[in-house]
Amino acid sequence: MTDAPKKLFIKTYGCQMNVYDSQRMAEAMATEGYELTEDQAQADMVLLNTCHIREKAAEKLYSDLGRLKPLKAERPDLKIGVAGCVAQAEGAEITRRMPLVDLVVGPQAYHRLPAMARGEAPAIVTDFPEEDKFDHLPRRTENRATRRAPAAFLTVQEGCDKFCAFCVVPYTRGAEVSRPAARILAEARDLVARGVREITLLGQNVNGWHGEGASGFGDLIRQIAEIDGLDRIRYTTSHPNDMADDLICAHRDVAKLMPYLHLPVQSGSDRVLKAMNRKHTADDYLRLIDRIRAARPDIMLTSDFITGFPGETDQDHADTLRLIEQVGFGTAFSFKYSPRPGTPAAGRDPVPDAVADARLHELQALLTRQQKAAQNGMVGRTLGVLFEKKGREPGQMVGKSDYLHAVFVQAPDAQVGDLLPVRIAESAPNSLRGELVN
Ligand code: SAH
Ligand code: SF4
Ligand code: F3S
Repeated sequence: MTDAPKKLFIKTYGCQMNVYDSQRMAEAMATEGYELTEDQAQADMVLLNTCHIREKAAEKLYSDLGRLKPLKAERPDLKIGVAGCVAQAEGAEITRRMPLVDLVVGPQAYHRLPAMARGEAPAIVTDFPEEDKFDHLPRRTENRATRRAPAAFLTVQEGCDKFCAFCVVPYTRGAEVSRPAARILAEARDLVARGVREITLLGQNVNGWHGEGASGFGDLIRQIAEIDGLDRIRYTTSHPNDMADDLICAHRDVAKLMPYLHLPVQSGSDRVLKAMNRKHTADDYLRLIDRIRAARPDIMLTSDFITGFPGETDQDHADTLRLIEQVGFGTAFSFKYSPRPGTPAAGRDPVPDAVADARLHELQALLTRQQKAAQNGMVGRTLGVLFEKKGREPGQMVGKSDYLHAVFVQAPDAQVGDLLPVRIAESAPNSLRGELVN
């Protein structure tokens, strides 16, 4: 007789890499007899996979932990774990501030989680172990923790050596490490064998990948594209300085590589870029965009921006708006600067909050107009859509276009996992509507 499965509830904050990590932790805990639950109240273990990038993101952990107090009081055997970048940054401080936390595990130690949950490893592990966690995590074949999704993430590179003056990632994720091509290909094949048709390659500087077994990131993409049954490849996040010629050529040559590139620039002012330690100018970025568009004219570009970085003037802000006008983005993420303890910019004189807010609003209004224009430009085109789930209306499916737009389609006979041509008929605020083409 086997024990009834124990239940694991995971809440994921932050970036795609955390989403990926949560899946890998769920798969590791499945080997311990845990299955995932969507209902926190039913859980035997609650795992909060946290983000440290901005103050608000980090503070969410403590409000969520506060809300877990009654549950833990009712069921003292409930295990509460904190993973992710706040775990790495704050370590034992978390259990000091919140004694209800049983386990704290940093991003490089996830393979230790099963032993930690059994009480056979220390309750707080935030070192950067010698061994590679990926060698000790279970293979990505199906198990009780895997959801049958046609699109999946795959981490190929982790950590960052760039040290932008505002950013915690080099401290929370550690130095840049690239996984060997053979391991990445094996994981990709496992994913395809369980029904995955689209893989997004992940890394904090994914295009800086320089692992064994390929000459560079462009070559790695070419090798992955050889896998039968895999239809789409994406990658995120890239740094402008690591956009090598070979990768740009891959956008021209590799049909499976989707015409979409997230390339954060942060600011359009050379003064601010320098203060941010970005090591590129606005003009470098614009010339790079020209080369990418020459290789793949229909590529959609997206980016990240920060407003109110210390020292940013009205003129700097105007330079950022001008860069946005010059490029024309499909969509973009923009944030008000948030000082992070331990980063070089943290002690610098702040821009007044109201000024940073006003700039953020102005920038977002422009980016929203561009997003709308990009979506309107899809109307009338026929695009591949990979169906990821059923929609709310009867017979409706929701999927992603080549350009990562969510597309709603009436397709009563289609299955999740189908990749079908869809004629885009209409643009809504954050999605498209289309019709199947026969
Ligand atoms: N490795 C990626 C993403 C880093 S975090 C890259 O290099 O682009 C994602 C985004 O969060 C960043 O691009 C930046 O725009 C934003 N960000 C990072 N630190 C921040 C901070 N202290 N305040 C506000 N936004 C920040
Ligand atoms: Fe952070 Fe800069 Fe590294 Fe991106 S490149 S993770 S923004 S330090
Ligand atoms: Fe956040 Fe860590 Fe990702 S700080 S954005 S979860 S790398």
